[in-house]
Amino acid sequence: MAAQFLADLDALLAEASAAFSAAADGEALEAARIEFLGAAKGRLKAVQKGLGTVAKEDKPAAGKRLNEVKEAIETAFTSAKDRLESAGPAAAGGARFDLTLPGRPLRVGRLHPISQTIDELKDIMGRLGFTPAEGPEIEDERHNFEALNIPLEHPARDPLDNFYLAVAAAGAGTATAPPHQEHAAPLLLRSQTSTVQIRVMERQPPPVRIISLGRVYRPDAADATHYPMFHQMEGLLIDRHATLADLKSVLRMFATGYLGSDVHVRFRPSFFPFTEPSVECDYYWNDRWIEFGGAGMVDPNVLQAVGYDPEEVSGFAFGLGVERLCMRRHGITDIREFYKNDVRFLQQF
Ligand code: DAH
Repeated sequence: MAAQFLADLDALLAEASAAFSAAADGEALEAARIEFLGAAKGRLKAVQKGLGTVAKEDKPAAGKRLNEVKEAIETAFTSAKDRLESAGPAAAGGARFDLTLPGRPLRVGRLHPISQTIDELKDIMGRLGFTPAEGPEIEDERHNFEALNIPLEHPARDPLDNFYLAVAAAGAGTATAPPHQEHAAPLLLRSQTSTVQIRVMERQPPPVRIISLGRVYRPDAADATHYPMFHQMEGLLIDRHATLADLKSVLRMFATGYLGSDVHVRFRPSFFPFTEPSVECDYYWNDRWIEFGGAGMVDPNVLQAVGYDPEEVSGFAFGLGVERLCMRRHGITDIREFYKNDVRFLQQF
């Protein structure tokens, strides 16, 4: 019987070695290990039982051979394991996930730089007591021009300089006209946020202290500093004794709040139909004067247009370009970058 037992051992060793070296990954190797070396049902265990049938005088030699084969099978297993491990952790199966692999990036969305700027401007102006107000982007001529003291013959009303809506121009705009208008009136995309001054003053008595941040539209050809749609921050303060000095203080505090304490503010005389006197506001920052927008004391005609008494109240207003502020702050040199939807640009904010 010893001959059979020894033959079984040799066959087992050959099969096990072949199985271990054929294993292509950790899973296959583990299956082979269980098949041959498994503690309960492994084939080595089964063959080992045959030792009982070996004649007594042959037992020492058979037992020795059994131990040799057992060791040889274990060695074959270990070397197969080493082979797979040196091929890579995934193949070895011991570490199913590799902690050293770079993680899958979570794509977190973020606010557009202009939205972030708007939030920040609201925050700064909020600390100065200005509450955000909103108005429609589709406007009538009263709010975009007339109540702002911009008469019919004013060049700002040129149809070529504004986005008039075709439906209104065709006289079919009744459905979209504001409710207070009985007849179809021309509608346009607002060209300035000064419209919101009128809307706010129409619905509340003085005092007023608002800002309005939103889109405005002008048919300008896009270049590095122009875009047919951009954003403005409008400000309006109406009270009993508002002065130009107050305006300057507010704009200076705003500028230092947004750009830092090393900013200087300069007023240059200017003209806007809705302010008297009117100024152009420049900020000096990083060795340059940059024009940020217009401002002035609200013209008495505007106060009258909304039913305020110019003898009782006065006020100031300002309108600043949001893109310009954001460009200055971040060193952006082309306004078109904001609206290309290029993630490589947008990701930087
Ligand atoms: N609406 C003007 C523009 O778009 C900017 C402006 C100037 C707004 C003077 C004002 C102001 O409120 O007082 O160019």
